[in-house]
Amino acid sequence: MDKIVIEGGTPLSGQISISGAKNSALKLMVACLLTDEVLTLTNMPNLRDTRFLGHLLENFGVEVKDGDKKHNGHLSLHAKTLSSTTAPYDLVRKMRASFNVLGPILARAHKAKVSLPGGCAIGARPVDLHLNALKAMGAEIELSEGYVIATAKGGLKGAEITFPFISVGATEHAMLAAVLAKGETVLNNAAREPEIVDLAKCLNAMGAKISGAGRSEITIEGVEKLGGTTYAVVPDRIEAGTYALAAATVGGAVRLVNVRSDHLGSLWPLIAQAGAKVTMDENSVLVERHGTPIHPVDVETQAYPGFPTDLQAQFMAMVCLADGVSIIRENIFENRFMHCPELSRMGANITVTGREAIIRGVPKLKGAQVMATDLRASASLIAAGLAAEGITEVGRVYHLDRGFEQIEVKLGNCGARIKRVSE
Ligand code: EPZ
Repeated sequence: MDKIVIEGGTPLSGQISISGAKNSALKLMVACLLTDEVLTLTNMPNLRDTRFLGHLLENFGVEVKDGDKKHNGHLSLHAKTLSSTTAPYDLVRKMRASFNVLGPILARAHKAKVSLPGGCAIGARPVDLHLNALKAMGAEIELSEGYVIATAKGGLKGAEITFPFISVGATEHAMLAAVLAKGETVLNNAAREPEIVDLAKCLNAMGAKISGAGRSEITIEGVEKLGGTTYAVVPDRIEAGTYALAAATVGGAVRLVNVRSDHLGSLWPLIAQAGAKVTMDENSVLVERHGTPIHPVDVETQAYPGFPTDLQAQFMAMVCLADGVSIIRENIFENRFMHCPELSRMGANITVTGREAIIRGVPKLKGAQVMATDLRASASLIAAGLAAEGITEVGRVYHLDRGFEQIEVKLGNCGARIKRVSE
């Protein structure tokens, strides 16, 4: 198993190109199930999760082609016919986003059998909102032996659906199902994340009629058929935020390119409050901190446009080194503080009570052996390691490989002393 070894204490200096967004790419890939024509995605990140989803799609008879043998950011997906309508446990349990194949398969084949995803390290993560949305569209749903068995005789029907709270996955799933439903679907209290807008744009390019994506009310007028298209995945706002926070944590100057700075509106003022300088132009963002102290900042995670839960761990690494006390509240997932004990091993002073963490800043962190517990937690440990004195070894880096493309190369190009070691 690989580990990442970091020698801390060197400021970052250089340019980082942001990859396509994992959390958009995964849903865009699933959209290929809705058409018998070719869907080509460009600006595709090459990640463990996207490769894994490619295998799952092959299980349904989708022809998956990676531009050429060497990854070049193009992925062609051709679901000419669906050879299977079942997603087995082994394929769904490894990645929750796999569950989102249910709606499209049901919409196209009028039946689907998909394993329930189960919980994961950051929380129980039920799928009740997903299932209720499909039921509202006329699906009959039976739960049996860990599987969702769904049928929609004569196809899905448009419906008005009001989500009791905001869910990114349920909003996307309902959109993916409603595009081929008969009649109009209205989603109230929908998620507004950029990934939702990206999915709607791609589906519309395939012939769907979706309006309102990015607002709380989304309207989908069902169409009979979707076709193929070529679509570029939106830049990854979480990857961009991770490197921006790493620059603020470690110090130095990092320019982010291929970035949508408008997708991180909640982050920039907080980084500035912490004492880093943020300069934006049309195509890039420069984050700098040169020897000035990090100031404490309180933050709570919220659905978009609020502060993203996927940057919470990275933000915490920064304020561990602040000259005062910060409070971080996690409102989205009930168990997303697993990085705290690991950061504490490096000398951080963190007290967690329920959904709140109190971080008393320390003057320095010290390198240690730590364990990645989930994808974003891994990135926080890497930033902490880069800022720390001495050597940090981050184990279980397979978490990292799920969602960060070549993190050690991108940081290495900015002068970080970081390497991947196979054990
Ligand atoms: C997406 O997860 C992302 N994953 C997550 O990124 C991200 O943290 C999350 O949205 C919030 O922004 C992907 O896009 C693949 P939710 P999702 O449905 O869709 C509860 C990462 O690190 N809920 O918005 O699963 C749920 O348990 C990952 O890249 C229900 O109770 O998130 C959570 O507490 C981690 N019932 C809350 O809602 C449901 O049916 C919000 O979850 C659905 C969700």
